[in-house]
Order: sequence, then structure tokens, then C-alpha cells
Amino acid sequence: MIVLGIETSCDETGVAIYDTTPWEAGKPAFLGILGQGLHSQIAMHRDYGGVVPELASRDHIRRVLPLLDQSLVQSGLKLGNIDAIAYTQGPGLAGALLVGSAFAKSLAQGLNLPTIGVHHLEGHLLSPLLGQTAPQFPFIALLVSGGHTQLMKVSGIGQYELLGETLDDAAGEAFDKTAKLLGLDYPGGAAISKLAEKGRVGIFDLPKPMLHSGDLDFSFSGLKTAVLNQVKKFEARSVTEPTEVVQFHADLARSFVDAIVTVLVSKSEKALKQTGCKHLVLAGGVGANLQLRNALNEKAMKNGFEVHYPPLELCTDNGVMIAFAGALRMLSKNNGSTTSGAFDIKPR
Ligand code: KG4
Ligand code: ZN
Repeated sequence: MIVLGIETSCDETGVAIYDTTPWEAGKPAFLGILGQGLHSQIAMHRDYGGVVPELASRDHIRRVLPLLDQSLVQSGLKLGNIDAIAYTQGPGLAGALLVGSAFAKSLAQGLNLPTIGVHHLEGHLLSPLLGQTAPQFPFIALLVSGGHTQLMKVSGIGQYELLGETLDDAAGEAFDKTAKLLGLDYPGGAAISKLAEKGRVGIFDLPKPMLHSGDLDFSFSGLKTAVLNQVKKFEARSVTEPTEVVQFHADLARSFVDAIVTVLVSKSEKALKQTGCKHLVLAGGVGANLQLRNALNEKAMKNGFEVHYPPLELCTDNGVMIAFAGALRMLSKNNGSTTSGAFDIKPR
């Protein structure tokens, strides 16, 4: 089965074509990726310090058709070869989601194909299956993106149990907000991680929220406030020496990254222990973070579990994960696919 996937939930337009043949034959899942196109709107939103929903919707409209053409050319297929169309149903920005769903539904009506609405997080959750070493079910997924921070037990396709989640900011949101405090551009996750490499360990004693809360929930807003307090303290000193300013930012970035990584790693280990699972999957944009990856790898070696990552380019939003999740769902019986042309998005 050949499935077209459309992702437009936030600030990336993603289109991809996935063929389930290798998966059904027990071969590596990534072999089914036949074509893909991705456009990031980050540069467009940067001046505003965050995603502007109306601009996002308009840009998705501009990009989605050319990206479809690109995916088709890459795959060597024609529209007539496609069997179903998957699109991100939510969560995300309502206007942005409407572009993807309207596009998917219209194309499907024209081609007389079924559509399938995919939960954006299911896309992230299953993307590590597209890696070189795919995890075995059941596994624990640490889902850390700009909008979500969750620990899930994944027992199979469609079998997800929420074990814990953030009570306030998402991990990516904490990265982005802290980056802003340190004068970095939006989205600051990758930049703060790079800055932290130049910072010294343990200069600032930042909180590690809910580290010992006993449950698997998270909270990051206090950490961001602690960073803000350090920034205010430093500003009160009116330091003008550039090297000192740079070192301060790097040290603070380092303490911030270390605090957040400590909490994410500790809770992931707790989830593994609690469920008896031996496989951990890291998914979502923050999954691209190298400090987090290094810390998890170290713990995995020491404590006898395996960590699986999606290919780096599939960590942030993309069309492949939606095509893949949609395709796997299409293979099961009660998959929720429909030939109805009504749009049904679920922003929340
Ligand atoms: O999954 P994603 O592309 O979009 C959402 O669904 O939210 O995640 C985007 C988030 C942003 O907050 C971004 O700052 C963060 O992922 N991110 C990172 C890194 N790369 C992206 N955070 C920390 N370190 C990184 N290297
Ligand atoms: Zn995402």
C-alpha cells in the first residue's frame, strides 16, 4: 500500500510518500520511504520571536503543492499510484491544520481515495521505527517537542498508555524561552545546546523540578524562572566586558541544559523500571539534543537498556512520520480511514 502523508500542524510543511511493502515483508521500515519534501518556516517567524499562526497557514498553502510534486518526482510515482492519503489531524494550529486537511481531502475526493487523520504525536512516537535499529514492542517513548513532554508506554501500533506529562511548559518550550532570555533567536533549542558546549559545569545551581516527585510528571516553568533570576542578577552588575558576557551566557546555558537533561533522563529510567520495559525511544524535536542523547546512551550502557532514536532529520516535524503512521494504521482493520470529504481537525 502506498500512502501520501501531509504534515502542516505548525511551522513545517511536510509531504512524503510511504510504501508499506518492505514493512510487511519484515524488512527495515525506512526502505518504504519513497519520496519526501520538507519546508521549514523558521526563518519567516524568527523576527516575531515565535510562530505567527496566520503567516504559517498562508505559507503552508504556498508550499504544499510544490512539495507534493517534489515527492512524486523523487518516488518516480504518479498520483494514480497512491492508495490513501494521511494528514495531521491535530494537535496544532487550527488554520495550519486546516490547510493540510483541506488539501488531503480535496486531493482524495479527486482521486477517489480514502483519507486518514493522524495524531501528530503518534507520528513522532512511531518515527524511531524508521531508524537503523528499530525498537521492539513494548517500549517506553520519551516524547519531547515544542508543544509536548510525555512519557508513554507503547505496546503496539495504536496501543499507547500515557505514564506522565508536563504540568506546565513543554521541554522544547523551556528551551525556546530560556534561549530568548540568553539573547538567542527563536527557536533556540539547538542554539542553546551549542552554547552550552562552551559553558562550565555547575556554575549555577538551577532547580531540577520534580526530580523526586515520585511520579512520572514534569514541570519546567520554575527552571525558566530561575534562569530569568540569574539573568537579572547579572544585568544588575552592568558587566560590559564582552568575553565575560559570553562566558556568563554559556555557563548559564550549560547549567540549564544539565538540569533539564537530568530530569528527562531520571524520569525515563523510572518509567523503564516501573514497566519492566528494556527499550526506550526518544522522539520529538528536543530528541535532536546531543547532551540528552549522550546522557541517555551513558545510562543505557550502565543500566542495561537500549535507546532508539529516529534519524536526526525525522526528529523535528516532517511528512514522513505522518505518511508512515498513516500507512501502518491503514494496514489494520478498524483504522478510522474515511472517504468523507468533511474536514475534521483537532487543534487541541
Ligand atoms: O517536534 P518539533 O519539531 O515541533 C513540535 O511539534 O513542537 O519540536 C520543536 C522543538 C523546538 O522547541 C526546538 O527548540 C526544539 O524542538 N529543538 C531542540 C533541538 N532541536 C530542536 N531542543 C534542544 N536541542 C536541540 N538540538
Ligand atoms: Zn512535532
